[in-house]
Amino acid sequence: MTVASAPGKIILFGEHAVVYGRPAIAVPVTQVHADVEVAESSRPGIWIHAPNVDLDVELNTLPSDHPLAAVIHNLFFGLGISPHPIPSPNGRGSKGEGLGITINSTIPVASGLGSGAAVSVALVRALSSALGHSLTDEQVNVFAYEIERLHHGTPSGIDNTVITYAKPVYFIKGHPIETLKAGRPFTLVIGDTGISAPTKQSVADVRRLWTKNNLRMEQVFDEVAQLSLMARRIIESGQPEMLGDLMNQNHAFLQEMTVSSPELDALVRAACKAGALGAKMSGGGRGGNMIALVTPETAEPVSRSLLAAGARRTIITQVA
Ligand code: PMV
Repeated sequence: MTVASAPGKIILFGEHAVVYGRPAIAVPVTQVHADVEVAESSRPGIWIHAPNVDLDVELNTLPSDHPLAAVIHNLFFGLGISPHPIPSPNGRGSKGEGLGITINSTIPVASGLGSGAAVSVALVRALSSALGHSLTDEQVNVFAYEIERLHHGTPSGIDNTVITYAKPVYFIKGHPIETLKAGRPFTLVIGDTGISAPTKQSVADVRRLWTKNNLRMEQVFDEVAQLSLMARRIIESGQPEMLGDLMNQNHAFLQEMTVSSPELDALVRAACKAGALGAKMSGGGRGGNMIALVTPETAEPVSRSLLAAGARRTIITQVA
């Protein structure tokens, strides 16, 4: 039996602008994760069991563009493995027995916490290793990015990267990966609007805005890029309390990009009123999650205020 796990993630700075080549910062969120187990199965074929989404099916009965089928087919193709006959975990083609893949995830779907990328990363790791291929992080990241591309059209690659490496990253599309070390740990409260919103939609809307008002949007992306750059220096130099103001500024630019929402704005206001040092929406927007920068003392009061202001749930997480 082979197991693999991948964390959730949250974007601290630079979402959307990152699609246009500007830097962004993202960190793993280990309180939520996707877990995959691959074992031999007495049932012939490749069986996918994902209780979260009520799925118990043989691979070939899924449409090839189904998110889970796409990961598996891509991996087989990339590794030069023919799934017929089913490759067995011990490396020999097997006739009767099959593989059982069990997928569990505590990451809410379509909420900016990277649920799709985390499942892809864990699935690629568990399945490749069950079939006797040990992949580097770089290879896992390439597979996970391919799947993001299938589902999001023009993803920057930030989700799969931060989740594959499970470390804070300073990310610029197409550049070598740069991990970040926080000079001093800091605490975030993540507040979930409970509204699932497809990133593809908000990314497409920003593109329309960018096409219509190119000059202004390019300025906005440049301003956001400066925020990400400053944030990186602040994080590395261990003065995280200075991030709050930058988060507020980043949120205002995301509002201008039209990707915030009344619910996200309400949670951002509630967090600041309860003593957060700053707050912003995070990820694709229009729903999903927001983040607030807190001290160990304000973490609980901010979390309570978010729940009172309508958050479906909160997560308190430390960036170390
Ligand atoms: O997956 P989400 O919702 O956290 O958003 C990804 C961040 C975007 O910048 C909006 C899109 C991208 O591909 O980088």
